[in-house]
Amino acid sequence: MGRKFFVGGNWKCNGTTEEVKKIVSILNGREVPSQDVVEVVISPPFVFLPLVKSSLRPDFHVAAQNCWVKKGGAFTGEVSAEMLVNLNIPWVIIGHSERRLILKESNEFIGDKVAYALSQGLKVIACIGETLEQREAGSTMEVVAAQTKAIAAKVSNWVDVVLAYEPVWAIGTGKVATPAQAQEVHSELRKWLQANVSPEVAASTRIIYGGSVTAANCKELAAQPDVDGFLVGGASLKPEFIDIIKSAE
Ligand code: G3P
Repeated sequence: MGRKFFVGGNWKCNGTTEEVKKIVSILNGREVPSQDVVEVVISPPFVFLPLVKSSLRPDFHVAAQNCWVKKGGAFTGEVSAEMLVNLNIPWVIIGHSERRLILKESNEFIGDKVAYALSQGLKVIACIGETLEQREAGSTMEVVAAQTKAIAAKVSNWVDVVLAYEPVWAIGTGKVATPAQAQEVHSELRKWLQANVSPEVAASTRIIYGGSVTAANCKELAAQPDVDGFLVGGASLKPEFIDIIKSAE
């Protein structure tokens, strides 16, 4: 398949300057597989981006957790894609379920954000995922296909897109998807890309899993043929994040 393993660490709305310095020091001091084997992207809150960017080991990269949908201006409180580019931040997470559910970001709005971020030269971790109610109703694929369709409608070049499947019911709950559950959705998503975008995009696009990934469960998940890595929340703030990175081997 030739898809490089990808491990993202989404720190969410957490950290102080001291805590960030401590986490970066831990990350900088540990042995990990080479960049040929795994791509590691750390996503701190906006306010710590310069600090992390300036102090993180050079083989790890940095992502923002969001960006605005168009060129900056009279949009109080927003951070523009141009600002991230200006700070040499190469990645951005877009469409996280916490923004979909809490801030009501729609599929279309997220598609527009993905397109604008790409247009400014950013690389995008685009998040999708169903709620527990949607899964229990049997509509998982219907939901994630609609989310992916809204992104695909606005993306012409997938080379800088990583798709993150994060079942909402697994985020922050400790109820990680089983390897079979993750593989099933990832495989269906790859088939969707094959049918609706192209066989080449389906074969080359990394589809990563997020939702209660830990050092204890990452190996089995990583062994699934269509799981190309992880987007890690809580465990990315702990030393065990290094073990999750090593699951690329
Ligand atoms: O973006 C990753 C996040 O949603 C997963 O969170 O804490 O379940 O690993 P967590």
